[in-house]
Amino acid sequence: MFNHVDYYPGDPILGLNDLYNKDTRAEKVNLGVGVYYDEDGNLPLLDSVLKAEAERAKAPQARPYLPMSGLASYNTAVQRLLFGADSAAVTEGRIATIQSIGGSGALRVGAEFVKQYFPQSKVYVSKPTWGNHISIFEAAGLEVGEYPYYDAQTGGVKFDALLEAFKGYNKHDVVLLHPCCHNPTGVDLTPAQWDVLLDVVKERELLAFMDIAYQGFGDDFETDVYAIRKAEALGLSYFVSSSFSKNLSFYGERLGALSVVSATAEEKRLVFSQLQYIVRRLYSNPPCHPATIASDVLNSDELFALWTEEVAQMRVRIKEMRQRLFEVLTAKVPGRDFSYITAQRGMFSFSGLSPEQVARLASEFGIYLVSNGRMCVAGLNTKNIDYVANAFVAVLQD
Ligand code: LMR
Repeated sequence: MFNHVDYYPGDPILGLNDLYNKDTRAEKVNLGVGVYYDEDGNLPLLDSVLKAEAERAKAPQARPYLPMSGLASYNTAVQRLLFGADSAAVTEGRIATIQSIGGSGALRVGAEFVKQYFPQSKVYVSKPTWGNHISIFEAAGLEVGEYPYYDAQTGGVKFDALLEAFKGYNKHDVVLLHPCCHNPTGVDLTPAQWDVLLDVVKERELLAFMDIAYQGFGDDFETDVYAIRKAEALGLSYFVSSSFSKNLSFYGERLGALSVVSATAEEKRLVFSQLQYIVRRLYSNPPCHPATIASDVLNSDELFALWTEEVAQMRVRIKEMRQRLFEVLTAKVPGRDFSYITAQRGMFSFSGLSPEQVARLASEFGIYLVSNGRMCVAGLNTKNIDYVANAFVAVLQD
């Protein structure tokens, strides 16, 4: 019956957890999956979350089905976080937001919507991008192409080539953008570059799909959404997929959101109805617990302030690790420029290591990176950083 089924060999990012877990060496280091570990190598349980959960535990509540769109108080809080409470799109009721199953779920629901209402559109993603972007849009039946992005020569963005590419796309083609902390490179556009690029998006009538999974890990919650707010100010109609996996340390809770900004409240009504219908057919409705806790954190001034501080601590610790790695490598490998490590932002550093060098790190040192050279800096701490730096030196000098 099933002998025609193709074997799925596993995911190049998530599969690294299995390899890491199987490794019996005490000194092993997991720099693969984009997960924040604290100084002790543990996944943090945020105090803001624990406080919200403790409060809820005092008066336990039943677990009803949520609406197809999820918890309303969560969705409105997400809109405030992404677009700002005073944004015209928010106050005029032009944004359709649904609670999603992580950021991936938001991408898939958005991709289904694009396939249904813009079937001729092609989707363009940055070269490189998070591998799952391509899979998710292709799984929805859309054709996916790449736009120039990372410049391996300069460690920056091929901005002129990127602009030229956008100018050649057709009306309503979808451009997948990373508002902050680009995955996998850690190389972001400047506000001035966003201004120019979004003007082209508007002029060409492209459909921007902004995927933000690391809000707060670049500069702060507000600065990291520059591109999202600029698009809103320009009056674009666009998508935003967002996630609380990283900044609320909610990985396994699978909590995200899809927001679609429309030109009018009437268009929003239509879009919102279809998003619900897509959800109904895919998984019916999302889970209560994560949205309830996130809503409590986002809607309480006290818990929101505490959460902001906790995200700032994560961000600062990652920057300290970048600095330390930069210093050790610069001292030990003279003549090679490691300034990219401190210039890149968010959880990731595109290390420039070849697949062979990455394989050596795993086999000889038990250090796991994605084969494209992406390193999750948030897996470093003061206890393992010298070990990692020395291993880098060993593979770089051979
Ligand atoms: C990553 O890029 O490592 C994370 O977004 C986790 C994942 O699902 O790939």
